[in-house]
Amino acid sequence: MYNLLKGKKGIIFGALDENSIAWKVAERAHEEGAEFVLTNAPIAMRMGGIKDLAAKTGSEIIPADATSMDDLNNLVEKSMEILGGKIDFVLHSIGMSVNVRKGRHYTDSKYDFTTKGWDVSAVSFHKVMNVLYNKQAMNEWGSIVALTYMAAQRVFPDYNDMADNKAYLESIARSFGYFFGRDHKVRVNTISQSPTPTTAGQGVKGFDGFISYAEKMSPLGNATALECADYTISLFSDLTKKVTLQNLFHDGGFSNMGVSDAVMERFIEE
Ligand code: NAI
Repeated sequence: MYNLLKGKKGIIFGALDENSIAWKVAERAHEEGAEFVLTNAPIAMRMGGIKDLAAKTGSEIIPADATSMDDLNNLVEKSMEILGGKIDFVLHSIGMSVNVRKGRHYTDSKYDFTTKGWDVSAVSFHKVMNVLYNKQAMNEWGSIVALTYMAAQRVFPDYNDMADNKAYLESIARSFGYFFGRDHKVRVNTISQSPTPTTAGQGVKGFDGFISYAEKMSPLGNATALECADYTISLFSDLTKKVTLQNLFHDGGFSNMGVSDAVMERFIEE
């Protein structure tokens, strides 16, 4: 390990179980010398093994529903107390669509479901940054990262309204990132990750087909959760200080492919 985050303090949202991308980020951040607070929605605390992760990484857990300004204010205040100062890095690794969960087709969305999913998956990122910005909780040259998916730019029919949520999330990263950069020298980026077998990922209809197709299309193959964590660590480190307002594809090359030999083979008639 490289001590890339030695002395840095962070907040990590979204570690539900050991498959979660946030879980891998927490393990890697710990290995790289960071101290951090783990947080997740109160309901997820009861389901997941976040306590094991906290024990393993010497972290405290503060429950917070990322849609609640009260919870987020409490989280940021308590985190600064626990960590003994301002924050250097924040990971937003949160996504949920009620329409997906309830099996509603995109063309037949239920709009209170749409609103809830949009609040959890996209607006929560604005709320998190609002609290960090207004409490002046971030150190200069700090780094904020959210996770997204390429359905924000291109059509993946079964991704449902999460596609729209991700487009909104990526826009928030740019819009808020401008003010955070100008006023506090904090960078804000999104990482657009390959399909990854996690609880959220596997909630997408036809996920198995989806992940194998991406694997065959990508010259380097799909990026794993651990590889995503490595990339995230690089964005939290001082090696990427001037990278901001970006949507960064971490997908083995998938996003720039038209077709690959492996996919073509399946369509060539003998
Ligand atoms: P996951 O299911 O392990 O993580 C999602 C997390 O969101 C869970 O920990 C859940 O408790 C949390 N969450 C849901 N509602 C919340 C709320 N109201 N307040 C606070 N936290 C809440 O799945 P994964 O895949 O690790 O997801 C992390 C991020 O990566 C999400 O933004 C997801 O959309 C994104 N992503 C996932 C991909 C995949 O194929 N798995 C691909 C590209 C992006």
